[in-house]
Amino acid sequence: MIKVGVVGVRRGSSFINSAKETGMELVAICDIWEEKLHEAGKRYNVATYTDYDKFLEHDMDAVILANYFHQHAPFAIKALDAGFHVMSETTAVITMAEGVALINKVEETKKIYMLAENYPYFRYNQEMRRLYREGEIGEMVYGEGEYVHPMSVEDKNKISPGFRHWRNNLPATYYNTHALAPIMYITDTIPVKVNALCIPYLDSDEQTPLLPQKGDTSSVILTRMNNESVVRTIGVNLRGHGNWYRIHGTRGLMENLRTFDQQMLRVKHDAFEMREGEVEERIYKPEFPILADAAKRTGHGGGDFYTDYFFAEAIRTGKTPYFDVYRAVAMSAVAIQGYKSAYAHGAPYEIPDFKNSLSAREEYKNDNWCPMPEFKDVQPNQPYPSVYGDKSITEEAKALAKKYWKEIGYEEKE
Ligand SMILES: NC(=O)c1ccc[n+]([C@@H]2O[C@H](COP(=O)([O-])OP(=O)(O)OC[C@H]3O[C@@H](n4cnc5c(N)ncnc54)[C@H](O)[C@@H]3O)[C@@H](O)[C@H]2O)c1
Repeated sequence: MIKVGVVGVRRGSSFINSAKETGMELVAICDIWEEKLHEAGKRYNVATYTDYDKFLEHDMDAVILANYFHQHAPFAIKALDAGFHVMSETTAVITMAEGVALINKVEETKKIYMLAENYPYFRYNQEMRRLYREGEIGEMVYGEGEYVHPMSVEDKNKISPGFRHWRNNLPATYYNTHALAPIMYITDTIPVKVNALCIPYLDSDEQTPLLPQKGDTSSVILTRMNNESVVRTIGVNLRGHGNWYRIHGTRGLMENLRTFDQQMLRVKHDAFEMREGEVEERIYKPEFPILADAAKRTGHGGGDFYTDYFFAEAIRTGKTPYFDVYRAVAMSAVAIQGYKSAYAHGAPYEIPDFKNSLSAREEYKNDNWCPMPEFKDVQPNQPYPSVYGDKSITEEAKALAKKYWKEIGYEEKE
């Protein structure tokens, strides 16, 4: 069994569900929220730590990072330095400088680093990867990835405790990996350039005055991929919950269904170029390619099983996982450079090739541009989480947030 420690007990708990089946054993957990930590410690009967440095002294092989969204890179670097393999929740890095530092560290330590991006492993996305590799629709010309996840004011507040919590300060381009990663996985393409726009919370939206969120509601990112195709990704807080992925190829189209059962896949050819044995249109529910029963028992459409599985496999075999540090940083860079683009009204920004270009690493190694509060605290000229500037939070939103936070045992310190 691979001995694993988990940081962050909320999302971190979901890794634990499929850990055993993939050959991993949870041995320690770490969280600064003591009450939640001790509850989880009892539930899983493992060692608990509030101090990350002490946690890293525990006897284990690998660390899974499910701490705050914007603090993964420094935690990953420490864990790699301490000799552990790392699987990190999204996002991998919050600045371009962190991207350079993380890549350098993975190369230096030669440990396994994997981004825990689970959406590529939905059954229809794995099937689209299989079909794409067989040449079913030719080469991607245009793709779409949509991660649309609206929530009620109560639910949003309950998973965002604190006015400085990352969810209340996240620019709208930053949660893009659930939309983009499946397209990259299906087509084996890499982002090279972005243009993006953010969409504000409109005054006519009844949630607008009730949320303590400093960011914009959503964004549209156009990403140029390394084969010259264009991918449009959207997320996160638009109404109409769902995940959709669509690939237009040079000789066909694949997408999961928008209506009825979204697990169904549609493959479409045009009559004028169908090959022998092909049908113009087929719609079916694909099966997972491997370990289907285990996958069906876990969350996020089976995705949570496969991230554990591929991480464990990478450690066992020593082979780099698909979502390695280069792809992880490239996806984070789409979020960061995309936000720079949105800040500049949609101007193009490059996604540097840190894998192959040392001069790109040199160019970005001090780029600490970041709208998160901790960065603005030390460098006041940093951007705001909204492209529309500093958003004020209404008294009603403040009171409502405090009420919901109290219900989950969180008291805001003024
Ligand atoms: N892939 C998915 O489907 C999926 C789903 C949910 C969340 N996530 C990701 O998982 C991560 C965590 O999400 P969440 O919803 O649980 O966030 P959260 O903010 O609710 O939880 C983060 C946890 O980390 C703890 N923490 C913060 N700083 C710490 C430190 N210095 N040391 C130890 N613990 C610390 C916090 O106390 C908290 O319990 C995020 O990156 C999020 O994007 C991914």
